[in-house]
Amino acid sequence: MDTLTALTTRVSVPRLTDPGPSDEQIDLLLRAAIRAPDHGMLRPWRFIVLRGDQRERLADIMEQHAAESFAEADSCTLSNARNKALRAPAVIVVAAEVSEGHKVPVWEQVLAAGAAAQNIMLAAHALGIGAMWRTGAIAEDAAVKRRLGFADKDQVVAFIYLGTPAGTLKTLPDETPDRYVRELPDD
Ligand SMILES: Cc1cc2nc3c(=O)[nH]c(=O)nc-3n(C[C@H](O)[C@H](O)[C@H](O)COP(=O)(O)O)c2cc1C
Repeated sequence: MDTLTALTTRVSVPRLTDPGPSDEQIDLLLRAAIRAPDHGMLRPWRFIVLRGDQRERLADIMEQHAAESFAEADSCTLSNARNKALRAPAVIVVAAEVSEGHKVPVWEQVLAAGAAAQNIMLAAHALGIGAMWRTGAIAEDAAVKRRLGFADKDQVVAFIYLGTPAGTLKTLPDETPDRYVRELPDD
């Protein structure tokens, strides 16, 4: 798939199944990720690749988060939280390990990590791999960050779920850029 086709046809794929991406494909996704633009060459992006049984660690973290967030979480809530980590064959956690007090502001560093995440999304689409970018409350939770190996100052920007699309891809929205394009305001 050529670059412009990938850019203009990408869709999220919420339902993902086996097989997951191969070692070679994961390597390509990460190579694409680290070509994201990065002010100051700070390289703020970090990636945790979880496949197969490795996802159980993320499932533990999601379950613990649910238990800590909802005082009255029942076993159903806990198992739902746990199963979120297992809903695709592979998950890449993308985080920004930020440098505070640097002349490049933190928001730019977080955006750079977000651009890395988007490169993964696009590379996955180009390779025929289904992908879905998710975050939620767990992305901002200090205990979750610590369990993932990050500090509270850092920002989890994406849990990217990857696998083979289950069913057909959704149709592209019938949308043109016009409604988002503005003119400069009059003086
Ligand atoms: C930073 C970020 C976080 C997101 N978090 C979630 C999420 O937690 N759950 C969800 O269903 N969609 C989430 N989305 C949206 C989906 O990834 C997806 O973009 C959306 O469903 C629209 O589908 P499309 O990408 O095919 O246009 C997030 C998107 C971004 C950019």
